[in-house]
Amino acid sequence: MRLTDCHNTEHFRRFAERRLPSPIFHYIDGAADDEVTYRRNTAAFETCDLVPNVLAGVEHIDMSTTVMGQKLDLPLFLSPTALQRLFHYDGERAVGKAAEKFGTMFGISSLATVSIEEIGSTISTPKLFQLYVHKDKELTKSMIDRCKEANFEAMALTVDTIVGGNRERDLHTGFTSPPKLTFKSLLSFAAHPVWAANYFFREKFGLPQLEGYVGEGTNISVSVADYFNTMLDQSMDWKAAEAICQYWGKPFVLKGIMSVDDAERAVEIGAKAIMVSNHGGRQLDGSRTPFDQLAEIVDAVGDKIDVICDGGIRRGTHILKAMSLGAKACSGGRFYLYALAAAGQAGVEKALTNLRNEIERDMKLMGCRSIQDLSRNNLRFR
Ligand SMILES: Cc1cc2nc3c(=O)[nH]c(=O)nc-3n(C[C@H](O)[C@H](O)[C@H](O)COP(=O)(O)O)c2cc1C
Repeated sequence: MRLTDCHNTEHFRRFAERRLPSPIFHYIDGAADDEVTYRRNTAAFETCDLVPNVLAGVEHIDMSTTVMGQKLDLPLFLSPTALQRLFHYDGERAVGKAAEKFGTMFGISSLATVSIEEIGSTISTPKLFQLYVHKDKELTKSMIDRCKEANFEAMALTVDTIVGGNRERDLHTGFTSPPKLTFKSLLSFAAHPVWAANYFFREKFGLPQLEGYVGEGTNISVSVADYFNTMLDQSMDWKAAEAICQYWGKPFVLKGIMSVDDAERAVEIGAKAIMVSNHGGRQLDGSRTPFDQLAEIVDAVGDKIDVICDGGIRRGTHILKAMSLGAKACSGGRFYLYALAAAGQAGVEKALTNLRNEIERDMKLMGCRSIQDLSRNNLRFR
């Protein structure tokens, strides 16, 4: 399989499946319980259809948008995701460079495998840091301080991981971070020698944001669910979120808002944006999809806060549909993670090229010269 054969997210997914040891592929590809919400996140976009207008003079189109005060050349950005150096040895470096080339924002996770300082000094495109609130208050504060120092543009507080989701594929494969060396995992590494050589002989795997604070997740193999359950602060509440928002002092986002009530509270505490998200179906299976919740949230708070539709995005038309309902931008994880696993920075660039071409072609076919031309007038639910 070659990169030139990857025309859509599913092609990248298959490529990634070949490249990665199976516990790592299933960590990316899997979700919670029966994965119903995960599947519905994408299927929800098929509950409505686009209604095009024609003869609109679409020789030049503008697909830029402004979100959290940042102008992005694409209405799509790269959500923060953990452990990227397990997927490709260039990890966040590759993703950041690709996002920069496309003039869009990218996020790094609290569980990123490259330091805040390195990303801050090497990547010029808008950068978002995703914060997990740890029981160790000093650790949480150190992450915020480091982001201030490194001039990150925005901070996203993830609010949907108060406990770990039940990701049964990970239970089945025994996925841990770093990968545990068991008989089964060694067999899987042996079947993927290129991945194994890169993992074992290049830079040592680490989680630089946690170093000096915790052994877990850095050198002791631990499952992601155990990490959430033992390290994160389950007492986190609106008061804590407001205090973080104030301490950070720059554009602040709540990631994982799904209800109108919570969207309104996000406005009250001073958030600049919300990511309507169910964590890619990896947490509460049976929860509603971001696209299904979008209209009511936009109606309630869309004039006060930037509403972002996160998750399930696999096609340009999905983005056009979300923007038609009033999202300021869309974001996603797996669409670029499969590509990262397939071919590093070149892979992520190809995934972004495919989606940019789709958005451009679809906007022209819709008779839209700019993203602002999209509205509910051009959408019909079945
Ligand atoms: C492998 C993987 C790791 C993730 N790690 C994080 C994380 O560390 N923090 C976070 O807030 N969200 C994390 N997410 C969720 C993404 O930010 C995003 O919400 C999700 O991927 C959207 O769904 P999509 O993959 O269908 O686009 C992760 C998602 C995946 C697939």
